[in-house]
Amino acid sequence: MSDPLPETGDGIQLNAVGNPTDLRLEMPTLMARELCKSYRVGSGKLQVLRGASVDLYGGQICALMGSSGSGKSTLLNMLGLLDKPDTGKLWLHKKEVQNLGQAAAARLRAAGLGFVFQQFQLLPELSAFENVLMPRRLAARGWWSRRKEERRSAREVLERVGLQDRLHHKPSQLSGGEQQRVAIARALVSKPAVLLADEPTGNLDRKTGTETLDLLLRLGREESAAVLLATHDPDVAARCDRTIFIRDGVIFNQVPE
Ligand SMILES: Nc1ncnc2c1ncn2[C@@H]1O[C@H](COP(=O)(O)OP(=O)(O)O)[C@@H](O)[C@H]1O
Ligand SMILES: [Mg+2]
Repeated sequence: MSDPLPETGDGIQLNAVGNPTDLRLEMPTLMARELCKSYRVGSGKLQVLRGASVDLYGGQICALMGSSGSGKSTLLNMLGLLDKPDTGKLWLHKKEVQNLGQAAAARLRAAGLGFVFQQFQLLPELSAFENVLMPRRLAARGWWSRRKEERRSAREVLERVGLQDRLHHKPSQLSGGEQQRVAIARALVSKPAVLLADEPTGNLDRKTGTETLDLLLRLGREESAAVLLATHDPDVAARCDRTIFIRDGVIFNQVPE
């Protein structure tokens, strides 16, 4: 029988969710409880999340598996403050964040959250360098000295993803794998505590997908980010530290029922 799990100040039981025991005593970087989300469809309502709870820990890469349409992207959008749950709570670094206004959520996103999407979602008119600079600019205060520093960090992170020779290419002038590497650089330029990746290799061929996943996992580990990676590919999930499953709008840990 294991020890009782610690509780947060809000009386929420932290969940061991298949982590090594030392993680039980650590506060999750991102913690979601009982998230519910429905979409209005015509005159009806489609209930997608029905009380989904998730803990993400710094330095741990977690796969989120579930069939197509099970709500993976919906959940990632809630965790990344891109959309609001109908009910439920969300904490980032112990701060309750599900009720933030748009401006505060945008600031927090720019500073503390990184996203990688299946469709890359780069701005087509901007170069690789400008795309990576964008989150820093959104969080910036505009001092020139800061701008120099931002440009340096954008250049550095593009070097880390191996694109030092592609800084001034537009997305249309890059291969799919290169575009996703720009997106990874953009996600990591602010050194986010949380990295959310939504089927990041889903639009790439097998070989490029594997290389891109290698890069994403390596950089996620180097940054000690709390990573959640949505995928329907068991080979991708097998490369992560743990796997959670979404079904019928709730999260199952480790083993799908
Ligand atoms: N904005 C929306 N309006 C209405 N229905 C939506 C919307 N976004 C997603 N859905 C529906 O919610 C369900 C879950 O979608 P999604 O989260 O994208 O699933 P997954 O990423 O696991 O494939 C799907 O049935 C989808 O059609
Ligand atoms: Mg999806």
